[in-house]
Amino acid sequence: MSLPPGFLDELRNRVPISRVIGRKVVWDLRKSNQARGDWWAPCPFHQEKSASFHCDDQKGFYYCFGCQAKGDALTFLRQSEGLEFIEAVRMLATEAGMQMPEPGPRARERTDRRTRLFEVTEAACRWFRLQLQTGAAADARAYLDRRGLDAGTVELFEIGFAPDNRTALTAALREKGFDEALIVEAGMAAKPDSGGAAYDRFRGRIVFPIRDGQGRCIGFGGRAMDPNARAKYLNSPETPLFDKGRNLYNLGPARAAVAKGQTLIVAEGYMDVIALARAGFGAAVAPLGTAITEDQLRLMWRISPEPVIALDGDPAGQRAAQRLVDLALPLTGPGQALRFVMLPSGQDPDDLIKAAGPGAMTELLEQARPLVDVLWARETEGHSFDSPERKAALDRRLHDAIAKIPDELTRRHYTDEIRRKRRELLGGYWQDRKGRQGGRAQASGRPGRRGGGPMPAQAPRPMIALDGPRAAASLLEGACLLICALRPEFVAAHESRLERLLPQDADRAALLHDLLTGDDSAPGRRALESLRADAHLGLTPRLIEAQDRDSAETILTNLLDRLEAQRAAGAEAARAETEIQGDADEGLTWRMQQITRARHRAERPDMEDTGDLNEDRDALQAQLDQFISTEIWRKPPRR
Ligand code: UTP
Ligand code: MN
Repeated sequence: MSLPPGFLDELRNRVPISRVIGRKVVWDLRKSNQARGDWWAPCPFHQEKSASFHCDDQKGFYYCFGCQAKGDALTFLRQSEGLEFIEAVRMLATEAGMQMPEPGPRARERTDRRTRLFEVTEAACRWFRLQLQTGAAADARAYLDRRGLDAGTVELFEIGFAPDNRTALTAALREKGFDEALIVEAGMAAKPDSGGAAYDRFRGRIVFPIRDGQGRCIGFGGRAMDPNARAKYLNSPETPLFDKGRNLYNLGPARAAVAKGQTLIVAEGYMDVIALARAGFGAAVAPLGTAITEDQLRLMWRISPEPVIALDGDPAGQRAAQRLVDLALPLTGPGQALRFVMLPSGQDPDDLIKAAGPGAMTELLEQARPLVDVLWARETEGHSFDSPERKAALDRRLHDAIAKIPDELTRRHYTDEIRRKRRELLGGYWQDRKGRQGGRAQASGRPGRRGGGPMPAQAPRPMIALDGPRAAASLLEGACLLICALRPEFVAAHESRLERLLPQDADRAALLHDLLTGDDSAPGRRALESLRADAHLGLTPRLIEAQDRDSAETILTNLLDRLEAQRAAGAEAARAETEIQGDADEGLTWRMQQITRARHRAERPDMEDTGDLNEDRDALQAQLDQFISTEIWRKPPRR
């Protein structure tokens, strides 16, 4: 439809943009300046609590500082309501009390042409379905049967059959009054380059109609039954109706299923979508014979904030998943996430369901991994990071990938998550973009490293040197107190365990009292000063400050565990000792030995129980810093 000059400007001027947008957002009235037509709200296009979405009545423009959504009132209507441009114009014109101009003859022609094209595809769809009932389709029916498609499924997906004949469909359509040019334009027939009569595009194939979100038939996919056919699948060409990159197979039914609470699954092929639907996963879609596009991602996100990508478990499917990571990162944010399902190698969802049943699919869906995991796996699996240069290259790639994420909060969470994974894999520092130092820890022996991955550079074996168990306990106790002083927010959660610390040293007892009650006493301060000055605990403040909350708390918990383990062993030993004096029996002697060993293990958890505690005392002493930075992570020995 051609609009008269100035029509759109007039339209934009008549309706303040805030009125259009105000129906979809709740303005932050403290931040907004109503008199100036300056408005702020939480963005309707991504999830957020703060108001980073701005609109300006003077300029007639909106912009979100979080997700960069921007435009005028018409853009807003299109984005928020999913309207075509002209539909948005019509809606705004109604609101403005403006008369829509009559469609020009050319526009009317175009609409009429599209209507005619839809008539062709619908007629073809009906005709294909009829052909499936004929004698010529016996093989096709047998094929569908072999693939486990029952009558109900064939009906639901309107599966049809294109007989192996060059002119049958074209002839049938012409008989219905469609001319050849229209049939060709609808993609149902092709015109030979050499001239001559058009011939049917789909021949000897099972045919799947493809419908747009409004249920209109825009094209077809055709599956060859002959395994030697030149192309396994043949799809409609690009036509005025069929835009492969902007549609998805089964979109309409999938949207309805998502609305009923199902998970949106994105598979690779038509047969996967059908198999999924048969197995109860009604919200499945597939691209149309091409790689997933940005438009298709946006289409998915209009239906579901977190579609699950279930591509084939073959190299091609894996490559497609990796491409999707790059495509999705610059778009991702709250309400626009992805998860990935890893199918067993060589299987697609159809194969999996056939081989292992719907339960296997449910299980996989539950294990779907977020985008960040796939990004991480792509950059690390199969690589080795045994040199600073390789580590730096990894950091560079990860930074560059994360930098593409437009939403700041999302970007920050990616950084946190990648930092955590990196620490697990490599230890050491992770520099974020501002050059701040993040978590610090050694990799050796940390849990969570999966087998098969690259081996981290070996950290030196940590050893501890402590002047007997009492000194070890005192060090652990001091470390716990110091951490609580550095992170007072942990005290409440660990209150009862902290109360059981019962420090023997009066100053430390005062410090603990202060921590538990919020008091501030001179002896408490003195204890804290001496802990800060303690060479053995020297690294602790830096270590703790470099951790995020959870990691710091894990350190505290581990220290408390170790301390309690050691004290329990010590108490047992003392009790056994007194008993042994009175009545030395063999059982007691044995128990005593076990306890002594357990205690030694608690002090030197990384060493085999050699029984020889005297070796290399000095060397052990020198490694104490490592105890703090490394051993602190360990779980206590089991008793
Ligand atoms: P697949 O080769 O994975 O096929 O192609 P499939 O879906 O498992 O099909 P079956 O189970 O063998 O029948 C996945 C999708 O890629 C497109 C189609 O859209 C297909 O559904 N494709 C594949 C083509 O467009 N052309 C081809 O030649 C092959
Ligand atoms: Mn398949």
